Amino acid sequence: MIQAHGGTLIQRFEPTYDVTAITKEIELDSFSLSDLELIGIGAFSPLTGFLGKEDYESVVERMRLANGTVWSIPITLPVTEEKAASLLIGERAKLTFKGDVYGVIEIADVFTPNKIVEAEKVYRANDDAHPGVKKMFERPNVYVGGDITLTKRVKHDRFETYYLDPTETRAKFEQLGWKRIVGFQTRNPVHRAHEYIQKSALEIVDGLFLNPLVGETKSDDIPADVRMESYEVLLEKYYPKDRVFLAVFPAAMRYAGPREAVFHAIVRQNYGCTHFIVGRDHAGVGDYYGTYDAQLIFKEFEQGELAINPLFFEHSFYCKACGNMASTKTCPHGKEDRVVLSGTKVRQMLSEGVVPPPEFSRREVVEVLIRGMNTVHA
Ligand code: ADX
Repeated sequence: MIQAHGGTLIQRFEPTYDVTAITKEIELDSFSLSDLELIGIGAFSPLTGFLGKEDYESVVERMRLANGTVWSIPITLPVTEEKAASLLIGERAKLTFKGDVYGVIEIADVFTPNKIVEAEKVYRANDDAHPGVKKMFERPNVYVGGDITLTKRVKHDRFETYYLDPTETRAKFEQLGWKRIVGFQTRNPVHRAHEYIQKSALEIVDGLFLNPLVGETKSDDIPADVRMESYEVLLEKYYPKDRVFLAVFPAAMRYAGPREAVFHAIVRQNYGCTHFIVGRDHAGVGDYYGTYDAQLIFKEFEQGELAINPLFFEHSFYCKACGNMASTKTCPHGKEDRVVLSGTKVRQMLSEGVVPPPEFSRREVVEVLIRGMNTVHA
């Protein structure tokens, strides 16, 4: 089994932790609640807490923690100036969400970040039209760093069985006898192009870990519960049961393109994957990133800095002249033969009840999406 990133799978869940003596309290937003949980269960190994100033600046500037380990997205705990003024270095604070305590932080650092630098370096953008940048600026302006303990797990009403910790996915892969596992990140329904690159990858490994992100996404992305239902019908009908495993990634989406691709790969290593798919404009939004920037960024690391193998795929589609799924790498034909639809166009079609062509998306998937979109829109 592949090691966790940094060598140790972090485990910081202690349900019996006694918080009664702790008086200070930091209220989390849903973004930092999911970060807290993901740190606690080891999905963000080697992180043991929210980043302090030194690690934060190192991650922003160099894509590495202060000790040199690759880390591409700052995992931060933002608080207001007012809250920050009440916190002391060295003391503990309860981490709460809607009145419940979910964890504890040992405050090691309280600092004011330069968010403009964070926007430019991490997101390669500095305007509010970028959903990740907008979110970052909307959140409070002081960051608290320090090790955390997760004391309570987040409850999920639906699809609870798909929430697995890295220890559990690793045990599952072991049980299935898979040695080479390819991870697939998505915030969308699985369309034919996704299916094509997943199955192309599956041809050369033992198993596919379909790991959709179900944390906070922008409002016009398709809701996670609708997507989950679409994954179920797709797997049931078109995927070999003993070669695919579905579990969710309960993280917030940052839309940070290349930087987020590296982060997504590292996290999937922590879940036990040996390979990770990076296709066109991974984790991108609008026209902020070049089509293959999220692949090129992997060239910035030295041999051995990342244990997980990224598998790169070019823009894929159905080609009528080829009569099959293909990519810009394998198809000699032109645009007129290719069935390519933008995410915006597809969402518009679905909300109007218009069925995208079967070359773009499986009928069973479309049915779930139309039903789901129209329930949401009702
Ligand atoms: S993401 O924000 O989660 O990356 P999405 O769900 O669209 O968005 O993509 C999931 C993965 O599939 C990413 O690696 C992305 O690069 C890849 N991908 C999406 N569409 C295509 C396509 N038509 N051709 C090749 N790769 C694609």
